[in-house]
Order: sequence, then structure tokens, then C-alpha cells
Amino acid sequence: MVFRVIPVDPFDLVIFGGTGDLAQRKIYPALYRRYHSGQMPEDARIIGAARSEIGTAEFHQMLRDSIATYIEEETRDADAIEGFLNHCSYLRLDARGEDGWRELAEAVRPGVVRAFYLSVGPRLFGELAERLNIWEIADADSRIVVEKPFGHDLETARALNATLAQHFHEHQIYRIDHYLGKETVQNLMAVRFANMLFEPLWNARNVDHIQITVAETVGVGGRAEYYDRAGAMRDMVQNHMMQLLCLIAMEPPYAFEPDAVRDEKLKVIRALDPVLPEDIVRGQYEAEDGQGSYVDDVENPESRTESFVALKVSVSNWRWKGAPFYLRTGKRMRERTSEIAVVFKDPPHSIFGEENAQKPNVLVIRLQPNEGINLRVTIKEPGPGGMRLVEVPLDMSFKEALGPDAGEIPDAYERLIMDVIRGNQTLFMRGDEVEAAWAWIDPIIARWDNVRDRPRPYQPGGSGPEDALMLMHRDGRRWREVKA
Ligand code: BG6
Repeated sequence: MVFRVIPVDPFDLVIFGGTGDLAQRKIYPALYRRYHSGQMPEDARIIGAARSEIGTAEFHQMLRDSIATYIEEETRDADAIEGFLNHCSYLRLDARGEDGWRELAEAVRPGVVRAFYLSVGPRLFGELAERLNIWEIADADSRIVVEKPFGHDLETARALNATLAQHFHEHQIYRIDHYLGKETVQNLMAVRFANMLFEPLWNARNVDHIQITVAETVGVGGRAEYYDRAGAMRDMVQNHMMQLLCLIAMEPPYAFEPDAVRDEKLKVIRALDPVLPEDIVRGQYEAEDGQGSYVDDVENPESRTESFVALKVSVSNWRWKGAPFYLRTGKRMRERTSEIAVVFKDPPHSIFGEENAQKPNVLVIRLQPNEGINLRVTIKEPGPGGMRLVEVPLDMSFKEALGPDAGEIPDAYERLIMDVIRGNQTLFMRGDEVEAAWAWIDPIIARWDNVRDRPRPYQPGGSGPEDALMLMHRDGRRWREVKA
């Protein structure tokens, strides 16, 4: 099976922060891949806009470097790269001043989709949005794309929403959570809502609990300043983990349409119980093998920011009351792996005797690496000599299941940027959703700030602090082992 490429309309895509890290790591490589796959229309134009005093030649060299670094060899092709560069130009522009705006106003074309990607700090959102309007660069159909962090708390998120709302309608605003663009995350909805098999069991009567793990091997890297102000709760739980939880917990939307999906997610967020202090464990990685500890990395010996968090979350509605969600995420863990495990209840009675204690069925949705779905079922161990049960996986790796011609699974940004051009907001967060998530997160963070709580140290290369294991053990449950 080969992935189908559905053409999009001609567009002008302006990337503010066009020489920045995100643009180089994610946005240009994603656009290049879409070009390589044949999806980019002939007259698509990409304009990198930033303050740097560079010309188009230097900008093109930057794009070549970014492709060389972030695109796998099979997809790098000299002709394709040059063809892609023909779509890309650079504009020197001052977000806060007047420089470059007239040129931009002259560059955008009537009659094509206009999209403005604000790949800049949120401080600049207001000024950029205002100038896009004053110079009549944005029209009523233009789209504006913003990245996380969308606020630092409820108050700042509300202020950002209000600023954007002064210049754009909600249907024009695309708030990116790149987890929603991951193939497997979208597959979660396909698995749940395109199969009859799971829905009757998808509730607290049959599900014992759900585990969501997003483990990374990297530390805070070059983002120490941002990260130390954010921590795992703001950086990962408020957005990515929350979105995963919503997709697992939500009711079937009436259609796969933006507001239908987002209404259902919002209901889940509103049904979250406040989290009890004993249901949260925070951690900070220690030093190991010449690599610095968290406080070394952020150069702040007093830092009380968490690089790991585990929490038990209850969704108070008819479907989920009684089946908790355990979430954990951390840096410098053993493996880079993200998965959702739906752990079903034990069968009510074992007809096979005590020696054959049955393990529960577990449905594992692997986000990365090796995207796929795995269902653990119990069968009879082959051979004579009575009934002995074994647990086996029904394992489906998407790559294997879809065949070798299916090609690489696209990066989240490829899907999301093309959705912006198509005008499809289904995989983007609505303003009220983001605010509801902060409204739930804020009191949790405020409480540990108030008591000056210190995260527990944990050894890099493991599965987080001991206490995180206890969070499960005391409920008679266990985390699945973190391994790729
Ligand atoms: C980002 C966080 O949003 O997601 C990072 O800011 C994190 O801290 C990253 O590393 C994880 O994304 P992925 O796609 O690598 O799982």
C-alpha cells in the first residue's frame, strides 16, 4: 500500500522566526518532505521572515543544511532539494518595527491561501498579529499558526487568546500540539471509532486502568532557561499528555470534524478531578557518567523544577469513574518510548484453576518508536499434558502491516502544516480547551510551589524515582516496563 498524496491549494506560507531552531528542525524538513512526496503545488511559496541580515542565498544554504541534518538519506535528492528551494525565499523583517512589512505586503498574493506561522516567542504574537492587519497582509480567510508554550498558566493563556482574538477569529487560529499530528495518535481515533471491537469494553466496567508513558532519554539540552521555568508538568502534561488522555477518554464525536472532536475533548478536561498531593510524584535527574544533573544542566543549584512527573488522574463521568489514568513523563529515562496501555480487568472467574492465574488483556498503543498496536491475549500453551495458559501478543507494527511500499510514516509537522493549508482545525487545540487544561493544572502547580516541594532525585537511565513505582504499587498495580 502506498500513502496517497492529496493535493492542496496554492499557498503563501510566511514563517516568522524563519531562521529559528524550530523552523530548521521541524518546519522546513516537513515542507521539504511534502514537496518530495509531490504534494506541494507548483505555485506554493514559502517565505522565511526574521531579523537576521541574510540574503536568499544564505537562507537557501541554511535550508540545505537543515535538510542534510534532519532528512533521512533516502529522501534527500539533489534535484528535489533545488526544486524545493525555488519555492523558498527570505525576507528581513522586524516584528516590532517597520522594516520589511511593506515588502511582505507586496509579496503575498491575492487568491491563494495565506498562512502565517508564528514560530516565535509568545511575547511577539500581539505585535505580529497587529501588523499583519494594519498592513492588510492577512485577509478574512488567512490562517495563523502558533506553537506551544501557549501560556505559562491560565491567566497568561487567557491573555494570549484575547490578544489573538483582537485580530483573528477562532476559525483562523491553529494552535499546534504536535502530538496530535503523530500518526499513531490519529490512529487512536481510528482504532476506537472505526472498529466495533473496542467500544463496548471501553469503560470502567471492563477497564481496570490506563497508563500513559512518554519517556525521553535526552536531558533539557539547550532549552534550560525555558525548561526550568516550565518543568514536565507545563512542558508535557498540560498539552501532549492531556491530549492523549482526551483521545482515550472522550465520547465518540458525531463526526470527525473540528468542533465535534474538540467539544468532546473539552468535556473530558472538565471532568478531571483535582489531583490529590499523594497522587503526584515529581523527580529531578541526577548526574551520571560525566553527564550533569538537572540542576547542573539548568545552572541553578536551587532549582525545584521537575524533569519527571507521575500522577494518578480520575475522570469523573459515567464512562470512567473508577478506572484511573496513570500518567508519567520524564527526561533522561532508560529508553525513548511513548505508549498508552489500556489494562483490562481480570476475567470474573478462572475456569482453569489457580495454577493458571490469568493475566489481564492489555491493549498497547505505541506512539514511538516502531508505531503500532499490540494486544496481549491469553491462549493455551501448545502441547499435551493439560491446560496451561500463556500470554501472547497480537502485535501489529504499522510499518509491517502496511507493507514496505507504504514509505516512511510522516512526521507530525507534515500533517499539521498541510492541515493548516487545507483549513482543517480538527488536530489543533481550541482556545477554550487550552484554558480548561490550564485551569486544571494551575492548582496542582500552585500547591507544590506553596509548600516549596522538592522533586525526588532519580538515576538517569531508569524509570524515574522509586516513589513513582509506589504510586501504582499501593493500588495493587504496576507500571509496564519502559522499553523500546
Ligand atoms: C516538546 C517538549 O513539546 O515535546 C520537549 O517541549 C519534548 O521537551 C518534546 O522533548 C517531545 O516530543 P517528541 O515528538 O520527541 O516525543
